Amino acid sequence: MSLPRHIAIIMDGNGRWAAARGLPRHAGHSAGIEAVRACVERCVERRIEALTLFAFSSENWRRPGEEVARLMGLFVDALDREVAELHANRVRLRFIGERGRLAVRLQSRIAAAEGKTAGNDGLALQIAVSYGGRWDIVRAAQRLAAQCAEGVLQPRELTESHVAAALELAGLPDPDLFIRTGGERRISNFLLWNLAYTELYFTDLNWPDFDVAALEEALECYARRERRFGRVAGPAPRSTVRA
Ligand code: FPP
Repeated sequence: MSLPRHIAIIMDGNGRWAAARGLPRHAGHSAGIEAVRACVERCVERRIEALTLFAFSSENWRRPGEEVARLMGLFVDALDREVAELHANRVRLRFIGERGRLAVRLQSRIAAAEGKTAGNDGLALQIAVSYGGRWDIVRAAQRLAAQCAEGVLQPRELTESHVAAALELAGLPDPDLFIRTGGERRISNFLLWNLAYTELYFTDLNWPDFDVAALEEALECYARRERRFGRVAGPAPRSTVRA
């Protein structure tokens, strides 16, 4: 079975999962942490190279203050609880997004977790917090514009590789498989540049219900897709163009 090298996931539906059980929204986010753990474990077992999870978008700051505070607390607790085991499994953990907006307490936990796991050669796990695809592209444009202004780069020499190298996921292969739970069928400002050729997979399951069997189903669906990257189907045709 052909496996994706890189999986990107929008973990949606925690609130609806909680509401369906008469629970507060934060109970859905706590249950979501369990689903994250199961998903990471399976990706490690399957030797997937990279997994990128959308945990909090630039737009999620607009949620009620109490929910935002609970989510941030959940991230801190999850780091305190999980980093040792991630490290033992050779996972390299990184956060992507506008981390200057995060509480200093969370920023320092993130820096410590990234430092501890930086040398690991197993699963590259990216957690997107305060992340937006447009923010990522704008920041890359700012970096490249600064290089042009300094004269180290000429505008006419700019290529796709320069842009890719200035983005948060620099150095990683683009996601092969995008999964969104919770029933919506949109990208919602996730990895806009990197998802250009990614296979999209949507499921109505809410994130806390997305278990190992559901992940395997997504992987099987991916294995059946034919990826052409703009080329035609089948074996590469012999050229009919004459010199
Ligand atoms: C979307 O569901 C989910 C979130 C905004 C938070 C996702 C965070 C987690 C699952 C915790 C992950 C933690 C780590 C450390 C990776 P929603 O609240 O939008 O649900 P709804 O659409 O049903 O309201």
